[in-house]
Amino acid sequence: MTRDPRFDEQARAILRHNDRGGYTVPTPGLYPFQWNWDSAFVALGFATFDRDRAWQEIETLISAQWADGMIPHIVFHQDDAGYFPGPDVWATGTMPRSSGITQPPVLASVVRQLWEQDGADPAHAQMRALYAACLRSHRWFHTYRDPLGNGLVMVTHNWETGRDNSSEWDDALARVDTSGVGAYQRRDTGHVDAAMRPRQAEYDRYVAILQFGRACGWNHRQIADHGPFRMIDVGMSMELLRANRDLLVLAEAISDAPAAAELRARIALSETGMDWLWNDSVGAYCSRDATTGESSALVTNASFLAFYAGVGNADQRGRLLAALDRMTASARFLIPSLEAGSRDYDHRRYWRGPIWLVVSYMVAQGLAEQGHGDWAERIRSDSAALIAQAGFYESFSPETGEGSGGADFSWTAAMWLAWCGA
Ligand code: GLC
Repeated sequence: MTRDPRFDEQARAILRHNDRGGYTVPTPGLYPFQWNWDSAFVALGFATFDRDRAWQEIETLISAQWADGMIPHIVFHQDDAGYFPGPDVWATGTMPRSSGITQPPVLASVVRQLWEQDGADPAHAQMRALYAACLRSHRWFHTYRDPLGNGLVMVTHNWETGRDNSSEWDDALARVDTSGVGAYQRRDTGHVDAAMRPRQAEYDRYVAILQFGRACGWNHRQIADHGPFRMIDVGMSMELLRANRDLLVLAEAISDAPAAAELRARIALSETGMDWLWNDSVGAYCSRDATTGESSALVTNASFLAFYAGVGNADQRGRLLAALDRMTASARFLIPSLEAGSRDYDHRRYWRGPIWLVVSYMVAQGLAEQGHGDWAERIRSDSAALIAQAGFYESFSPETGEGSGGADFSWTAAMWLAWCGA
């Protein structure tokens, strides 16, 4: 497909329109603040036409990094009554105001990419500052979110995974006590069709977990040890392994030998540890409960991040490719967020079927790097076709290609510019 300049222009216009001065909202209305991993991908989009603005997106996010090293999942730079839960509900007491949980650690991988595009100068000032911030954030994960000591990532809220409503979390969420939640007013269903959003009972559980963190004064040690939701997320485990590899490249470039040694050790730990997530009966890496040890036994788009993380032996990779191939039987477009036929699969409902292009992008990048260029190209061209057919939606039905969630979505525009429209 040759690049269509009309879509390039639309994509740039979306990023400019969603720009609030130094940061970009994912989409007006539904998500009116700065989101952590959204900003990382958005920076890749800006980088195609405004390099300073790309770096600035990440610097603004980092301005909200916590003293303990955590980069929060939302930064509330201004008020907006149209969103729940807002800063008063989180009550983290930080400045700028932010939520008390994190999101997928993809930042170091983006910083490496931007720095290489700029010529890979070890003296690059922005890279050096962001390198230090990413290292602190990775150490936060290593310190607070590796309860099994095997290099994987535990999440204490399903919103941390970025795949908010995936069926992977259902069993653990079902055990969350919602009796003390009290009354609250959801805002998401005022912006988009409720059939595309989480159900009320699920939302109560999300709020209950938030309230637990707030009651702990956002003490991350206490939350990690005693929280009501403790899942080892396959997506974040793969993303952090990849991010550690990318951060290692930066550490070596600036001759930070102690950090490089530390990162090499973490990488080796995660490479071995990842097998704890391998579910042989399913033939895929699956999220697993840290408390009960139970595997979700579900194939999601995150399972294929194994290629991006560079893990898996020949047999495991072969079985993952077989699962991808199996998905093409019911999906006209790759990659669905949940395999069709799985419990609660729904091609329109949030993370239970629809395609998110940022996950597809990482998977395609990994497949290309690992010698599966044909699959990478299939995913890229499917992604471009979805945008060309439906517009720059938050997500898309793998069956019909119809857009779902918010429209004029920043990271979808960024993915067009930086990847699938190319
Ligand atoms: C939803 C997604 C999450 C994303 C946010 C903003 O909550 O699940 O991954 O960061 O929207 O786009």
